[in-house]
Amino acid sequence: MADPHTIVVPADEANIGKAASHLLAGELVVFPTETVYGLGGDATNDMAVARIFDAKGRPRFNPLIVHFAQPAQARLQARFDQPADRLAAIFWPGPLTLVLPRQRDCQISLLASAGLETIAVRVPSHPVAHSLLAACGRPVAAPSANVSGKVSPTTAGHAAETIGAKVAMILDGGPCGIGIESTVIDLSGETAALLRHGAVLEEEVTAVIGPVIDRTRLSTARPGSPGMLASHYAPDLPLRLDARNVDPGEALLAFGPHAMSGAAETRNLSARGDLVEAAANLFAMLRTLDRPEFSGIAVMPIPERGIGRAINDRLRRAAAPR
Ligand code: TXA
Ligand code: MG
Repeated sequence: MADPHTIVVPADEANIGKAASHLLAGELVVFPTETVYGLGGDATNDMAVARIFDAKGRPRFNPLIVHFAQPAQARLQARFDQPADRLAAIFWPGPLTLVLPRQRDCQISLLASAGLETIAVRVPSHPVAHSLLAACGRPVAAPSANVSGKVSPTTAGHAAETIGAKVAMILDGGPCGIGIESTVIDLSGETAALLRHGAVLEEEVTAVIGPVIDRTRLSTARPGSPGMLASHYAPDLPLRLDARNVDPGEALLAFGPHAMSGAAETRNLSARGDLVEAAANLFAMLRTLDRPEFSGIAVMPIPERGIGRAINDRLRRAAAPR
């Protein structure tokens, strides 16, 4: 991988064009937004989104925020209701993220939604972020550009120190103006909920759409991640982890070159045993196998290293009795 310091480049037009090419090739790019630096990857590319989780080194899959150059592009992927329309009209472009239902034909990677039926969308106002998103022409998933457990970077230098070795390029656009992440409002449920405080204040939001439930404290008190308290994706069928055999009627979620035989249907997360590829396939394959004609889903052992920890975390939650 590249030297963390030589990949920091000024965010001029030529470099923004190069960064867009990296994104289209499925690579990761760090770019400035008005809030914090983002670790961006093509949100429509499962492998690129899996690389984001791998680079962050997070022990679990939290859903990611997907960034757009224009509100109209966000509408193609997420279903806006009236409150969403009002908030977008007032605060976009800017530091507000909306959690909305995925469109039926949503092209965003299921991994970016952590398998959920919702998607978090935002149109940033930073001119470099805007130019990059426009040049790339794709939605870009971008969590803050730090490794898990470190603070969010507000300069290109910070980003280079913590995550530089894992990305193709870091666009230096100077220090971020706001310095804290965007406000997150969940409009996918019965009642609007504040999931994360940010630069757009709660009272500014309630002035537009009325009262919101504050889920920020509740969520930080939980062992899970902010915004994850309501639900996580779980299949209808029972999951049997660390399976060393296949029972009659079971579907098989395999991993590696030695997939077991005898399953009613098999999907292999990665025949070559690549954990990043396995993460990229996880939610889509679980959904494919989650059909009533099978008695359950047997899951072959997944190594507990790197992004394999996040895969196992999600499988354990999905296998837990409900
Ligand atoms: O300011 C920001 O928003 C920065 C810059 C780079 O744009 N991005 C950022 O992204 O902070 P990220 O992916 O780290 O933020 C994820 C947060 C989670 O903590 C969660 O609260 C919420 O967004 N979130 C994302 N998708 C969600 C979903 N489908 N349901 C509920 N919450 C979701
Ligand atoms: Mg973060």
